[in-house]
Amino acid sequence: SAPHPTDLVVFGGTGDLSMRKLLPSLYLLDRDGHLDEGTRVIAVSRDGLTDADLRDKTSSAVRGHPAVQVVEPDVLRRFLDRLSHVTVDVGGDPAGWTDLSSALVPDRDRVFYLAVPPMISGDICRGLDDAGLVTPEARVVMEKPLGRDLASSQAVNDAVGAVFDERRIYRIDHYLGKETVQNLLVLRFANVFLEPLWNSRWIDHVQITATETVGVGGRRGYYDTSGAMRDMVQNHLLQLLCLTAMEPPATYDREAVRDEKLKVLQSLRPLTGDRVAEETARGQYGRGTVQGTEVLGYLDEAGGPAVSDTETFVALRAEVANWRWAGVPFYLRTGKRVGHARSEIVIRFREVPHTIFPGVDTGPGAGSLVIRLQPDEGIHLTMLAKTPGAGALRLRPVPLELSFADTFSTRSPEAYERLLMDVLTGDSTLFMRRDEVEAAWRWVDPVIEAWNNTDTTPETYQAGSAGPAGAHRLIGRTGRTWYEEEQPR
Ligand code: BG6
Repeated sequence: SAPHPTDLVVFGGTGDLSMRKLLPSLYLLDRDGHLDEGTRVIAVSRDGLTDADLRDKTSSAVRGHPAVQVVEPDVLRRFLDRLSHVTVDVGGDPAGWTDLSSALVPDRDRVFYLAVPPMISGDICRGLDDAGLVTPEARVVMEKPLGRDLASSQAVNDAVGAVFDERRIYRIDHYLGKETVQNLLVLRFANVFLEPLWNSRWIDHVQITATETVGVGGRRGYYDTSGAMRDMVQNHLLQLLCLTAMEPPATYDREAVRDEKLKVLQSLRPLTGDRVAEETARGQYGRGTVQGTEVLGYLDEAGGPAVSDTETFVALRAEVANWRWAGVPFYLRTGKRVGHARSEIVIRFREVPHTIFPGVDTGPGAGSLVIRLQPDEGIHLTMLAKTPGAGALRLRPVPLELSFADTFSTRSPEAYERLLMDVLTGDSTLFMRRDEVEAAWRWVDPVIEAWNNTDTTPETYQAGSAGPAGAHRLIGRTGRTWYEEEQPR
């Protein structure tokens, strides 16, 4: 359904996420005609900004956003007019709640977006409730991290759940808003040719990678309490695994899709005890050169202790213990400050059951389907073809390539545009349900616990490299390699 006039209240509305992602995405939605005329954005913070300050700050954020490119002054003005700022000191002076109350218009849709650390989500919801601001239709949006383990995540969910019922809670995993991620479902379930091959009989293994060239930047404080496992694996990578491994849902609707994802999480073979050392590798970046620029090592980044075991890279081998996937390893990998940023899912098919070309050199890398999230969104299939020539028969892996940018003339929206739109229209299919988040923690917790209980520390890898050697050993133990290593250079 089309969005209604909505009061979108953003707690943490002047913070990093709001400025880097939310407000620029809202601007783009406005520019493309997706915001109702009456929709307004009320940024809440403790900063005591005036509306004019907020508009200035937002204007620079919008202008600086890579997806915006050319700012249309009329659109920007219209967008800025929608914005206002209210100062609320959650847990402090109650006057802020009264101010917020008078800033809201009765009889409108209300969305409360909590772009704040999870510990204060509960207090905000209680504050909203006490101030009588939670209308029956009001929705709440929560950002990760949703806790730092199962227990803390349950506590946050309980506190928010005491005020909003589950159907009104939108837990963001922005990877689900990425175009290619949604396309994965279309690729699998709108085409007939993949599904019969999508199982252990034809698939040898799956690789899910999300690596970045950036470091922790100004977020060392947060990151030191998190690490790559909590920051990326518990949410983004496991969500990608779910969409890759799930059974076909009966319908494309919120409960059906999420039920299937939940089953995948529940089928993950627990990684505990001694197996953790065998099936995982951790790394932490040291100083090095990334894309020609010298960069600091993790321990030298400001805002955290000089000694820390926080992992900035994780590789692990997961197994989905069910009929479809028994015996198929899912290799997951994520890290900061590596030489190349890539987010992709690689489906590696098995060899043919019987070759009629024995002894023919085929070169490496055939039989992979790559779903590329970034950069260069697209789908890439390598298959073997005969190289032209009258001499000896030679086969070579050749690409079948679908580039979204070349195929579609429309721009791919930012993940947050899609997700904000869904919140405004009330569609939570691409958001995480409580049981999913908790099932993910249930699987992740013992891994972190096992790491904490050993005296080993993450292996240092040079910034700009391909990550710790342990990640290569992990996949190499079974004679396999990470996808990019087998591509012809
Ligand atoms: C966030 C993590 O959720 O995802 C960041 O907290 C990470 O550490 C980011 O950099 C990666 O997102 P994207 O969309 O750039 O791949």
